[in-house]
Amino acid sequence: MQGAVSGAVAGLLHQVARVSGEGLIAIDGEDRVVLISPPAARLFGAAALEAGGRFHSSHLDFRIQRLVDAALESGRIEERDISVDDRNLVVRALKVDEPEVTVLVMVRDETRLHRLERVRRDFVSNVSHELRTPVTAVRIMAETLENGGLDDASAAADFVHRIGLEATHMAQMVEELLELSTIESGLRPLAHERVSIESLLAAVDRLRPLASDKGIALVVTIADGSPEIAGDAGRLGQAMRNLVHNAIKFTPTGGRIDVLAAPGDPGRVVLQCRDTGVGIAPDDLPRIFERFWKADSSRQRDGEGSGLGLAIVRHVVEAHGGSVSVVSEPKRGSTFTVELPAAPSHAA
Ligand SMILES: Nc1ncnc2c1ncn2[C@@H]1O[C@H](COP(=O)(O)OP(=O)(O)OP(=O)(O)O)[C@@H](O)[C@H]1O
Ligand SMILES: [Mg+2]
Repeated sequence: MQGAVSGAVAGLLHQVARVSGEGLIAIDGEDRVVLISPPAARLFGAAALEAGGRFHSSHLDFRIQRLVDAALESGRIEERDISVDDRNLVVRALKVDEPEVTVLVMVRDETRLHRLERVRRDFVSNVSHELRTPVTAVRIMAETLENGGLDDASAAADFVHRIGLEATHMAQMVEELLELSTIESGLRPLAHERVSIESLLAAVDRLRPLASDKGIALVVTIADGSPEIAGDAGRLGQAMRNLVHNAIKFTPTGGRIDVLAAPGDPGRVVLQCRDTGVGIAPDDLPRIFERFWKADSSRQRDGEGSGLGLAIVRHVVEAHGGSVSVVSEPKRGSTFTVELPAAPSHAA
């Protein structure tokens, strides 16, 4: 705190500001800034305000100056949401009329809250959007069956089959959402097992039939000296399967997928999934690990995937203290790299 207010008053204001977590500016009867708390200086930029200077000739946002005018005039607490440089601030001005301080300005940074609120809104709208398509399809097919569709045995069988597919898709999405939220909430903590690379990559074998159906070669290579991993075998296997599943989905017939494991930096393991598939546009790369995110081209394949697979990969890997990254070139292929801490060696 700095300014020209007496020690006792400054001390008191300082405590209040600290407890409330808000930035505080005090202005005296001569329009002089007598106190700026460090958070206030940070939020407004140190250059905007000067202790001892005139408040109304400062470089502070004019909306805050108006707010102070309003408080001086009304004698009430005046409040306003103001966004400055991507920050969402709630600013309040209060006329106090004390000997050394006439107006207090309090500012709270609600940027994080706003962001969370936006994430929540997007999330709800994404879930609703993803569910609407299959739910509508199921409803229409059920209505058709009800209105005479059952009389045509082969059409009926086809509809029932498609209803089953849509239900499977919805169930998978609900599964994935639950998985994400259990990891996030920490409700089902990660297991701490020693996981050998061989057993981890065996989880990928379940996808072999899918790859060979599409005429894609799936080659697993484990380099000598690849250390074990300490972690949750089930979830790590799921993460690797999600990567390989994508590789299969986004690689045309005749392509090749390489799953590689090798020792990384000391105490680390590197796992890679390389494909010769459609690749990812550079603009899309930063977004692919977000929930529900799908490239436009994959958005058009209806009913296939909800864009949660990579969000799960990132969550699982980061929960293990690892990282995941991607390098990709459109039409040439993509390489996803997962780096994980190795289990402490038996000798240690
Ligand atoms: N190997 C890949 N090659 C090309 N694009 C990919 C690859 N992996 C992921 N993508 C792109 O990233 C998007 C997000 O992948 P993610 O696994 O999160 O979702 P999804 O596969 O569409 O659905 P889900 O995994 O939930 O079934 C995909 O829709 C696709 O556009
Ligand atoms: Mg996927």
